[in-house]
Amino acid sequence: MNVLVLGGGGREHAIVWAFAQNPTCGKLWCAPGNAGIAQDAECVALNAEDGTAVLEFCQREGVDFVVVGPEAPLAAGVADVLRGAGVTTLGPGQDAAMLEASKSFTKEICEACDAPTAASRTFEDHGEARDWLESQGAPIVIKADGLAAGKGVTVAETLEDAQAALDAIFADGPGARVVIEEFMSGEEASLFVLADGEDLLLLGTAQDHKRAHDGDAGPNTGGMGAYSPAPVMTAEVTEAAVETIIRPTLREMVKRGTPFQGILFAGLMIENGKPRLVEYNVRLGDPEAQVLAMRMGAQLFDACLACANGTIASAPAINWADDHAMTVVVAAKGYPGEYRKGEVIGLPRLEDPGTKIFHAGTKKADTGIVSNGGRVLNVTARADDLKAARDAAYGAVERVDWPGGFYRTDIGWRAL
Ligand code: AMP
Ligand code: GLY
Repeated sequence: MNVLVLGGGGREHAIVWAFAQNPTCGKLWCAPGNAGIAQDAECVALNAEDGTAVLEFCQREGVDFVVVGPEAPLAAGVADVLRGAGVTTLGPGQDAAMLEASKSFTKEICEACDAPTAASRTFEDHGEARDWLESQGAPIVIKADGLAAGKGVTVAETLEDAQAALDAIFADGPGARVVIEEFMSGEEASLFVLADGEDLLLLGTAQDHKRAHDGDAGPNTGGMGAYSPAPVMTAEVTEAAVETIIRPTLREMVKRGTPFQGILFAGLMIENGKPRLVEYNVRLGDPEAQVLAMRMGAQLFDACLACANGTIASAPAINWADDHAMTVVVAAKGYPGEYRKGEVIGLPRLEDPGTKIFHAGTKKADTGIVSNGGRVLNVTARADDLKAARDAAYGAVERVDWPGGFYRTDIGWRAL
């Protein structure tokens, strides 16, 4: 079976690496891919958000199965174009991708199906939003509606910060929409499922670190590291999240005539054993995918294919080893602000098969492998316990020769 993965970050490297281990997976392409992905798949210069171009490639090359990695092609309707032409595709259509693309849509769904989440109000008028905000006080959470690559959320500890965030969103002029939300305290964790209409298969749990610097300080990023499983996601909490949040959401989507097919990633806040929804994403997390793929290996392919084929109800559950994985992101100094690209990176040769460096933002140049993004490498390890996984991951991080890079030294601190 010939497979195309769309995307070119660490998440897609992890997906491609896991798929390549499965004998059912034949020829494997990735668009656009990166220098690390090129070791496991053939990289093609395709615009992943251009459904017509992707479909043309699939028809020309005989692609049997497409997996969409990032959210942007999903929100752009690429899965609709492919499925419409009969290409087996993993990932929701544009209508169901609204669960990530619009925070107000997700709030509406939660309300309709009674899924626990922060109380909220959505505003299109600056004045009304300001009045409401003042009546609520801080702490409070301000969210720009729409895809913002993790940057559209302000958790404001003071009313002044909240007002500034609100002003910044409405500064873009009319058409802005904002969700003002109750601040939830507790511990955050992520739950991943493959869903196909009302049926689902658990894809595991993870926790990530969004702040750039040690001690969860500094600006928000796409994620500086992750580990799996998430200790806070006990069997009871996981079941509560599935039964009170995920299943009602899937049923509501079916009821609306826009069933969800693909990977549903629930960001949860857990307090006193009770999960509440922070947000949905409609794809694997990055860097959460790196730790999940490290633990699942080739099984990820069979599960994704069953989902895309609509046979998830009869697919075998993931056979989890009693193991733990951690990934440490090595980013370009300056990220998530300004940073340099094109710096040569010396990569160590890793002997231990339980340790793997996924490439997030690299490319091949005459001088060697060079940095080509903010988040550049995801140094990932799997072991019997989290501490051993951490030691292996950081042991490998220390062998990366790249003075222009930085990383957090405390990934997993909460669990360790
Ligand atoms: P989101 O993009 O909605 O996941 O928000 C980014 C981050 O902001 C989340 O991972 C949380 O850490 C935080 N956050 C979002 N909404 C809330 C909330 N209602 N209460 C507390 N923290 C929140
Ligand atoms: N690491 C968070 C995300 O992928 O959205």
